[in-house]
Amino acid sequence: MRVLASPLCRVLLRLLPHCGPVGVSPAKGSILKPCKQMLRQNFSDKAEQVTTTELVSYWRDVFEANGIPEAQESSEYIVSHVLGAKTFQTLKPSSLFTPLTKEQQQQIQQLCAKRLQRMPVQYVLGEWDFQDLTLKMKPPVFIPRPETEDLVFLVVEEESRRRLASVGNTDQRLRDASLYPVILEVGCGSGAVALSLLSKLPHSQVIALDKAEAAVNLTRENAESELRKHMVMAESCLGSFSNVGSWEQLVPWGPVDIIISNPPYVFHEDMTHLEAEILRYEDLDALDGGDDGMRVIKEILMLASYLLKDEGSVFLEVDPRHPEMVKNWLQSHPDLLLSFSATHKDFCGK
Ligand SMILES: C[S@@+](CC[C@H](N)C(=O)[O-])C[C@H]1O[C@@H](n2cnc3c(N)ncnc32)[C@H](O)[C@@H]1O
Repeated sequence: MRVLASPLCRVLLRLLPHCGPVGVSPAKGSILKPCKQMLRQNFSDKAEQVTTTELVSYWRDVFEANGIPEAQESSEYIVSHVLGAKTFQTLKPSSLFTPLTKEQQQQIQQLCAKRLQRMPVQYVLGEWDFQDLTLKMKPPVFIPRPETEDLVFLVVEEESRRRLASVGNTDQRLRDASLYPVILEVGCGSGAVALSLLSKLPHSQVIALDKAEAAVNLTRENAESELRKHMVMAESCLGSFSNVGSWEQLVPWGPVDIIISNPPYVFHEDMTHLEAEILRYEDLDALDGGDDGMRVIKEILMLASYLLKDEGSVFLEVDPRHPEMVKNWLQSHPDLLLSFSATHKDFCGK
């Protein structure tokens, strides 16, 4: 399993007083300092003698000297990737002290040059793991964050409960229908959530939509390589849910048992505090939730009142400030017939 602290998680921790380390590390230039340039020159002169561990240490030092976050992990992931392993720990022990070929060193150098430009490791490698899946990653499509795995887990848990309850239902037809939930994901990005749900709940039908065409295409690509069944893909979908025509577009897919979303929920004023990795490479529309971070959340809740079955549920990943705001908003919109159910903290305790 590959693990990096989620850049979003890191930034949000910093935005919340008393929740974690403080002090935003400035986006430093990615130009090698003169002494490091010398080091690189000397190093490539000795190409034949360089081993994996030496190269990992070398690039870690270069990253550190250039203010690149997670220097050690970045170096390990890139070197391991070129050697055909997912992590440094899973490299064959014998390969640690074997000299790398010139081609391998060049490939590592090219990838590290991208990291020096603050490109997230996930885009540098072109793939990343989400739960049991290995998904292709392409800028600017949002990189799935580890905390979103918790969101998937909650849905799988609820589904297991629902399935158990339906076993007691003696009406065969009702019981069979309830075993096959229809799930709508709003804002699928790379497909991490939708595909993960399909792999964990293989009898479900998942509809994945995103307003960004690049995201829909990447989800389709990942679906083709990871899962080939049960996937219903809505083309480029909704520019805005506030458009009634867009709602009508979705009606044939409903009614659905579950709506799940990790929507853009960063408060607009917080966007400037995001790390260079995010600001330079990721689609900011995937993060910016407007002034109160609730722009798309409200759209989803309005959509839910049209599409959700009576006993259906909406699962949303939100900012820690949002549960209270969502509760208040629902109270002021009783016509939607939605009630607030529960808040769960993620593994960061947020
Ligand atoms: C935070 S990303 C989540 C991506 C993916 N679900 C994940 O967790 O990795 C939010 C996604 O919602 C999409 N999005 C933003 N506004 C939308 C809208 N009004 N309708 C549909 N998708 C939207 C963005 O393009 C982006 O892919």
